[in-house]
Amino acid sequence: MRNFDQFSITEAVLERVANAPDARIREISEALVRHLHNFIREVRPTQAEWEKGIAFLTDTGHMCTGTRQEFILLSDTLGVSMLVDAINHDHQTAVTESTVLGPFYVEGPPEVACGTDISGHLEGEPMFVSGSVATLDGTPLVNAIVDVWHSDVDGYYDVQHEENGLVARARLRTDDQGRFSFWSIKPAAYPIPHDGPVGKMLEAQGRHPWRPAHVHFMIEAPGHEKLVTHVFVAGDAYLDSDSVFGVKDSLIRDFTAHAQGAAPDGRVMDQPWCQLTYDFKLNPVSAAASQAA
Ligand code: BEZ
Ligand code: FE
Repeated sequence: MRNFDQFSITEAVLERVANAPDARIREISEALVRHLHNFIREVRPTQAEWEKGIAFLTDTGHMCTGTRQEFILLSDTLGVSMLVDAINHDHQTAVTESTVLGPFYVEGPPEVACGTDISGHLEGEPMFVSGSVATLDGTPLVNAIVDVWHSDVDGYYDVQHEENGLVARARLRTDDQGRFSFWSIKPAAYPIPHDGPVGKMLEAQGRHPWRPAHVHFMIEAPGHEKLVTHVFVAGDAYLDSDSVFGVKDSLIRDFTAHAQGAAPDGRVMDQPWCQLTYDFKLNPVSAAASQAA
């Protein structure tokens, strides 16, 4: 086969991948070729534009390190991460909705007892977070693992300041009533890392890099799907323009303001503080999925 034109080239590549031994690889390869060729036929790039595209992807790769994943940021800002999330978490039930993981999760965070203040040296408005983890029918999930992490008042995560160690993140376990609680400081809205190719892309697209303030949760309990989500601060200016499209109404809560005085756990506060309460519901692992695992 030779002498391809701008249409016959697609058939030629499709024929070339048709014998992929793995059926899923074949399906994905064929769809990739069809969509990529149609995209190129639609935008008709000049040779210089093609080179610019290759340079953008090369820069994106070069930006990646052990702690910076620019390709995930690209996926997030193009809405691909939330599209994958929507396809894989299309629950028609009262299960708590999921959202993007983001790049600031740390495997094996420090485990603390419920009620611990995890803010370390950080200054800010004290925040009391409490809630529960339960099955869809409301049965408490005891000893569920609840990982939490959030930004400081300037919108930075601990891992963005290498010198200070891990703060505003922890692993908790639910008690015998499926409940958990901790103290920290109220997080702020922040821009996603935008000093690399993804930042340049956002600028070229006339977009801002901001995310509304939120607290991240990753919750695991035996027999249930892992939940990766956030709870967003009601009233935040960026709820409708999150740079990574992660906001869902069911994940927005008032971080209720309180004057100084006694908090629910008996701590007496000498300054104003805020309170977040959220009750999480996990989806049971389906029989088919647990057999496949
Ligand atoms: C985050 O919420 O931590 C996050 C999510 C996606 C991209 C960047 C940051
Ligand atoms: Fe975040």
